[in-house]
Parts: sequence; C-alpha cells; structure tokens
Amino acid sequence: MGNLMRATHAEVHGLNRRLPDRTSGHSGKKPRCLIDGAYTLQCQDLGLVRVFDHGGTPMRQRLFDPIIASEITPESAYMQRRTLMKGLAAGLIAGLAGCEHEVEAKAETPVLPTPKPEIPGLKTWPGSSRETRTSFRDVTSYNNYYEFGTGKGDPAARSANFKPRPWTLEVAGEAEVTGRFDLDDLLKGMAFEERIYRLRCVEAWSMVIPWNGFPLASLLKRFKPTSKAKYVRFETIERPREMPGQRSAIIDWPYREGLRIDEAMHPLTLLAVGVYGRWLPNQNGAPLRLVVPWKYGFKSIKSIVKIHFSETQPPTSWNVMAPDEYGFYANVNSAVDHPRWSQASERRIAEGMSIFKARIATTSFNGYAEQVAAMYTGLDPQTLY
Ligand code: MTE
Repeated sequence: MGNLMRATHAEVHGLNRRLPDRTSGHSGKKPRCLIDGAYTLQCQDLGLVRVFDHGGTPMRQRLFDPIIASEITPESAYMQRRTLMKGLAAGLIAGLAGCEHEVEAKAETPVLPTPKPEIPGLKTWPGSSRETRTSFRDVTSYNNYYEFGTGKGDPAARSANFKPRPWTLEVAGEAEVTGRFDLDDLLKGMAFEERIYRLRCVEAWSMVIPWNGFPLASLLKRFKPTSKAKYVRFETIERPREMPGQRSAIIDWPYREGLRIDEAMHPLTLLAVGVYGRWLPNQNGAPLRLVVPWKYGFKSIKSIVKIHFSETQPPTSWNVMAPDEYGFYANVNSAVDHPRWSQASERRIAEGMSIFKARIATTSFNGYAEQVAAMYTGLDPQTLY
C-alpha cells in the first residue's frame, strides 16, 4: 500500500516470514521489497521499522506497535483488572455520594475507549460467523486508518478530537434522488442488525468482528440509481484539523473506494454504524463505514461523506497509488499473491490465539465464495485482482 504501507507490511513480514521468503517473492513477479529486511528483523522486538522511497532511499524511521493489546495481557486477566479497578472507582464514587449503588462487575463487559450509548433494537443475523471473535479491545486498538497515522495504534490514540456528528452525506451522480442528507435523518427507521463477519486485511492478518449496521443496498435503493449507475464511488471526509494523518501527503486525500453496482447491492455488503453493540468508535470509521467481507479490508472505507453513482469504474486510492499491488476488485484470493508476500495464509487476531499459533489458511473470497463467486464468472483474478 504505497510507500508507507510498506512499513506496516514489514510488521507482518517481521512476525511471520523469514527473510529469504521476503526477498525472493512469491508470485514469480520481480520482488519489490523496499524494506531493509535485515534491519527490520534485527529490530522487530523494538517495533522499529525503516521506510524507503521507490528509489530505495531511506525516507524515515518510525516506531510502530507490533504487539496487539491482547497479546500482552490475556483478555480475562485484563478484564478482571479492569473490573476490579472499576469496582474500586465506583465504590469510591458511591461512597462519596453517600449512595448504596451495587457495583456492576461483569467480566465479559467490553472495555470502551469512551462511554457510548448502546444501539437499540439490534437484530441477530442468521449468517454470522461462529468463529471466535476478536476482542473489542483489539478491534478498537489495532487499526488501519491513515487519516490518523500509519501506526496500528495511531487511530485509537489520535482520533479523540474527531467529531462524527453532525454528519452530512452527499449523494450524487446517476440517481434520481441526489443531494445532501443529514445522517441521523437517513438512519431513522433503519433496522440495525448484528453481523459477525471475518475481516481479512491485505497485510495478511484477520479478525472476526460483530458489526452493527444494515445492508448498503437498503440505503442505495432510496436514491433510485438509474440504469447508467454501473459503479458506486465512496469518499472519506477530509478534515486535516481533526485528522492529523491528512496533514501529510501520504495519500492523495480524500481516501476513495469503489464497488461495481452489483457488489454494492449484494446482501452481504454492509454499512456499519457500530461494533459490539456500541456506536462506532472514531478509530473504526465513525459514524458510517463500509464492510465488504469477501474483499481485502482496504475496500471497507471509513467515515463516508460522499456516495457517487457513476457509469465508469472510479479511481480508488490504493489502486491509483500502487496498481500492481492493489487491484480494484481486491477479492480475497489465496491463489493470487501480493507481489511482496504470500496470501495463502493469515494471522488471525482472536482471543486465545497466541501470536505463534494463530496462522490459518486463507479461504477463497474470505469464506464467502458460495454467496459471491457467481458475480465474477469469466473474470480472470490474475489480471483483474
Ligand atoms: N478507510 C480510510 N478512510 N482510511 C484508511 O486508512 N484503511 C483500510 C480500511 N478503511 C482505511 C480505511 C484498511 S487497509 C483496513 S484493513 C480496514 O479499514 C481496517 O478497518 P479496522 O481498522 O476497523 O479494522
């Protein structure tokens, strides 16, 4: 993913691949490894990585957090500690106020970065994955959201000033109903579901996440796309004052993504407003993000402000930046390697899976082939990846 993605990919390499694999490549294409492998290997414990530009000149050296939260402290111990501290704090407050509150001490209660209201009326979706879920803590602290920085911990650490309300969604292009709409008006009367999907990042890690939202199709249909609407383009908000990552030109902002209209209308394609029953934290793309579970995670664009129906295939951020590495389709495919690493397996980030045991085989369309493969009949994934 462009120059800076090489930093995060190095993390994956550093943890999972030996240097010869990295330098020799997997796909038969000429390797484009711009990370100084020896340096990265030597320093991975410190979380040090060195980033090079296209010519191989060192650009900058940065610290990143290669260890996810649940790998430092077991989730149960972390929760018990939190519960104990919460109990002590609540006891203290109750004591001060002279009240006799019963202190809630549920070990399974997810820990929130900020208290948010619960999403009302969530319906359980029957197709949900039954795999072990990724903890709320990892889902909200190990993120890719370059608008807040390129480190996995940056989005959680640097997004507190982002304001997801009020929020206006602009709808334009080949549709009968276009204009600017207040998000809360659009969400009124929408039936929210809980859908547990696998999220497979192109960097070869994955999570199992209980999203809360509704099928994108149910919103798009309201705008009555015309027969000319062959694609849908999405844009993330541009607010450099609140999004520190946008102050540097690591991406040609705003972040852009796109889907073919049949992909956008597919019943699996979700617009998420929450996760784990809570409104989306800023780092996960508040207030509205896409989730396309059979595609690499970069297609799941966050904090959407614009939807545009178009006749032609729209340019998308990563595809424009590195077309040989990130295709428009980006369907999860273990048989089509990234030019710099294999896509045959992934590091699953889930409770109880230690960093050394968590590698699992990647499945075609991320396990959703039965539902979506028919949309790609006749499309060669080696060229249109
Ligand atoms: N959307 C925006 N606007 N900016 C980003 O950097 N990163 C993408 C995607 N959506 C990204 C984005 C990538 S690479 C991934 S893997 C997922 O968000 C990660 O979503 P998560 O952080 O909620 O797990």
